[in-house]
Amino acid sequence: MTLEGGDGVGKTTQSTLLEEWLTSQGRTVVRTREPGGTDVGNLIRDIVLHHRGEVAPRAEALLYAADRAHHVATLVKPALARGEVVIQDRYLDSSVAYQGAGRELDPGEVRELSLWASDHALPDITVLLDLAPVLARRRLDADDKPFDRLEAEREEFHVRVREHFLALAASEPGRFLVLDAARPAGELAAEIRARLEPLLAGGVGGRG
Ligand code: TYD
Repeated sequence: MTLEGGDGVGKTTQSTLLEEWLTSQGRTVVRTREPGGTDVGNLIRDIVLHHRGEVAPRAEALLYAADRAHHVATLVKPALARGEVVIQDRYLDSSVAYQGAGRELDPGEVRELSLWASDHALPDITVLLDLAPVLARRRLDADDKPFDRLEAEREEFHVRVREHFLALAASEPGRFLVLDAARPAGELAAEIRARLEPLLAGGVGGRG
């Protein structure tokens, strides 16, 4: 399963709660993230998030896709093959929403690129934690973390990212669970558990 949404919506909190619950159910959980998650991925993460100066949009999209290709092939697929549950912070929907929101690239092409990179691996469930960018910004400010390149983007960009995420969710209602991230973390966690339970009972083993 994957967690998606803008920066500051509480993805880390939810993946921690979910990991605790799954572990208490006797499941082996692999928690990972993109960009990053592997050695190669962390090198790519450093370029896409911390490089000073411009990275051409197509190059940026290819870097995220390269990270994804390596991550899926070397970490996610082997874990799923062992029957483990993968909880992943961000996946291809982030590429479509963020690189698409930059307006230079066609969101459909970004998606195709990602699907090629991942050999068409899609998660069973994607939780979209939806929050107005002004509220997310307030949470990030309260955390007092330094901003990376994307977090420092203008609000208008983050509004477009949110719209892209919501459109993606609307186009694949079977995969997405959209939750209002302004609600209490415990309530959100309960809804996520309820959505996952039948899949786990069905012996799917939590693909992606
Ligand atoms: P994230 O790991 O959530 O950052 P943080 O460490 O601050 O929680 O995500 C890093 C940024 O990368 C985020 O702003 C979204 C962006 N991103 C893309 O633009 N495209 C992608 O394909 C992915 C996976 C992330």
